[in-house]
Amino acid sequence: MTDALTIAVAGLGTVGSETVRLLQSGAELLAARAGRPLHLTAVSARDRSRDRGVDLGPYAWFDDAAEMAATADCDVVVELIGGSDGPAKRVCEAALGAGRHVVTANKALIAHEGLSLARMADGAGKALACEAAVAGGIPILKGLREGLAANRASAVFGILNGTCNYILSEMEATGQDFAEVLAEAQRLGYAEADPAFDIDGVDAAHKLAILAAIGFNARIDFADVHVEGIRQVSAADIDYAKQLGYRIKLIGHAQHMGREGAGQLALRVGPALVPLDRPLGGIGGVFNAVVVEGDAVGHVMLVGPGAGGGPTASAVIADLIDIARGQAPPTFGVSADRLTAHPVQPIEQRVGAYYIRARVLDRPGVLADISAVLRDEAVSVESLIQRGRSSADPVALVIVTHDAQEAAISRALARIATIDTVLEPPTVMRIEPSLG
Ligand code: HSE
Repeated sequence: MTDALTIAVAGLGTVGSETVRLLQSGAELLAARAGRPLHLTAVSARDRSRDRGVDLGPYAWFDDAAEMAATADCDVVVELIGGSDGPAKRVCEAALGAGRHVVTANKALIAHEGLSLARMADGAGKALACEAAVAGGIPILKGLREGLAANRASAVFGILNGTCNYILSEMEATGQDFAEVLAEAQRLGYAEADPAFDIDGVDAAHKLAILAAIGFNARIDFADVHVEGIRQVSAADIDYAKQLGYRIKLIGHAQHMGREGAGQLALRVGPALVPLDRPLGGIGGVFNAVVVEGDAVGHVMLVGPGAGGGPTASAVIADLIDIARGQAPPTFGVSADRLTAHPVQPIEQRVGAYYIRARVLDRPGVLADISAVLRDEAVSVESLIQRGRSSADPVALVIVTHDAQEAAISRALARIATIDTVLEPPTVMRIEPSLG
């Protein structure tokens, strides 16, 4: 067997500790698969005294992760600190600057700084690998970049955040509202104490930006991703969606429109109604699922655990094995200087179906007034639910549209909100996937 691949790990939280544990417990198997031993040589974390359930005695300890990245005896630095700048970025830059490969699980860093880091890696002739950054244990980056390399991808979409999927699944199962389920998820440790990145869609958007860069070999500016979260989804919406044959999911959707080269991209994350009879509609709990639409293969869906120590460490070690084998591909499937810029479709130009729920007074003419606005905007209704009780009580009026442009829907909703029998601005959600 040839020389060992030497490894330094920066960050010993859940994923870092699990990576160390797997490198220890699986050493023989991993060496056989890599063709050489994977030797951990150095570690770094904020708190040396914390018990992480793994023996760190054999490894050099560094208080300063960037110093470790630049000076430790290692071929690869594994960055598991997190955050889109600050220490994580310094560690990756120090490692690449010192001619070491980098493996990271850091979606925020790659979404924001991936291009410049990939350029550094290309310049140094080193790997910048980030399988663990997207959908945890699902080998979606490898699948997209290698297994589907023959395809021109026209769309990559799916459920990219386990916390949101868990919350929405629990809301459906219990009938509870968002805030109650979030509080319970935090108590059980399924949601972070500060859950904003997850529930506001930012975490899913980071992952979508990486998927789009690889799927379309595109230079993605994270600011171009339209991002909405799930705070405003109500138990009532989940129930009405189900009556209409849909389930509400936080969906990340990247689409390449136009067959060749620099066609327009659509990049959006938001709560959406997914048909119950499509595979994505059946993915519940903390799972992630990613669908790739390729010109040769058709649709491929990968499903699995999108977070957690074991699944994420599994992806980290897959990257280490690639590097040990000398088979690490470019971060985004092509070298950084071959990524192409694309115009990005403004969200107002999205064409697809929409779910609208309005709280109205059940009076004669309210439906006619709303229909007139939709007619004026050329929005056609596909189905409608209205179950009135008495003319004194507000009722929900729920509409599913045929394909329409988002700008027309927004104009219609603004006018509907001014009708005096409509009690509050209507709720609207996209129905995905759309072809528009
Ligand atoms: N917090 C993420 C999720 C996992 O809930 O899916 C890490 O990105």
